[in-house]
Amino acid sequence: MVQWKTSRWNVENVDNLHEHPAIQEAAMWMKEGEVIAFPTETVYGLGANACSNEAIEKIFEAKGRPSDNPLIVHIAEIEQLEQATTTWSETAQKLMDAFWPGPLTIILPKNERIAERTTAGLSSVGVRMPDHPVALALIKACGLPIAAPSANRSGKPSPTKGEHVYKDLNGRIKGIIDAGSTGVGLESTVVEVSGDVVTILRPGGISKAQLEEIVDHVKLDEALFESGQVPRSPGMKYTHYAPDAPLFLVEGNHVFFQKVIDQYEAEGQKVGILISNERAEHVTANVIKCLGSSNQVEDVAQNLYHQLRSFDDTDVDIILAEMYPVDGIGEALMNRLMKAAGNRMIADNHNRD
Ligand code: TXA
Ligand code: MG
Repeated sequence: MVQWKTSRWNVENVDNLHEHPAIQEAAMWMKEGEVIAFPTETVYGLGANACSNEAIEKIFEAKGRPSDNPLIVHIAEIEQLEQATTTWSETAQKLMDAFWPGPLTIILPKNERIAERTTAGLSSVGVRMPDHPVALALIKACGLPIAAPSANRSGKPSPTKGEHVYKDLNGRIKGIIDAGSTGVGLESTVVEVSGDVVTILRPGGISKAQLEEIVDHVKLDEALFESGQVPRSPGMKYTHYAPDAPLFLVEGNHVFFQKVIDQYEAEGQKVGILISNERAEHVTANVIKCLGSSNQVEDVAQNLYHQLRSFDDTDVDIILAEMYPVDGIGEALMNRLMKAAGNRMIADNHNRD
């Protein structure tokens, strides 16, 4: 593959974004079929022209992504929807009105302009309008629908800072627009719409309860719970979001948590723990990474990927992580933690009712 000198443009706290030279230059490269990383409100995306198989091929190559995993197409204004799809239902329209721009991806019928490689050969396409001024300015400057997966090497935690993208993709892409930390910190919710039923294929920035305020019937894809089912969102079947050291979830109070830490340390293992501020007051280990207050699950979600990545700069042998209630953004948070753990959990069976 081509080795690039990856440009890094800083566009934090900038007015008149559409006139910014970095946006203009990045858009120029994307129109020429190159790949640019840019911030969204969820995580950094790795963008290219969604209508060009050659451009999309470069995304898969830079990420090392399995070729059967389709990409989300990003648009900047509702008029652009026709560049990606042929038709959408009343229910889909309600979701767009309520949540766009924002962290919701809607699966729609693909139109013929969207490249086969973008949707990995599927006849459907995931579309979203991101809620980030830089993403919107860039897409508008391109005038194209922009396919963008998260801008990490495949299997690694998604990037929530420009430096994460740089670490994973320096030399592999044309440029990175760095606008500091992303807001939500976890990816968009992916939904399929059939009649008036909305099915969540991947939990994310918009919760089930938020969707239920807008539509009557919201369900979760069964494959999210049953390991035998094939997920309808192809990306959900891969191990993901994982740091280098194996991660286990620990279910139980802080006394149990400390007991588990002590057992591993007694075996000579270097233990890292990924916990809330509250739990940090009660337990100790070789390396402690705090995610924020467990009363502010939004903060925990925002810090998750950064802290998961930060373990790779330590020499821990094993990571033990605290669990959170599956509610609101906690749905996506626990989904990502379970994936990072490959579903491995250590539970305090003695303390169960
Ligand atoms: O927040 C986000 O969604 C970020 C930012 C950059 O927008 N993007 C992102 O993309 O997370 P990616 O490629 O990492 O994840 C896309 C997910 C995958 O699970 C993929 O299988 C699913 O969306 N997906 C995309 N198109 C689909 C389709 N036509 N049918 C079913 N699932 C689809
Ligand atoms: Mg991803």
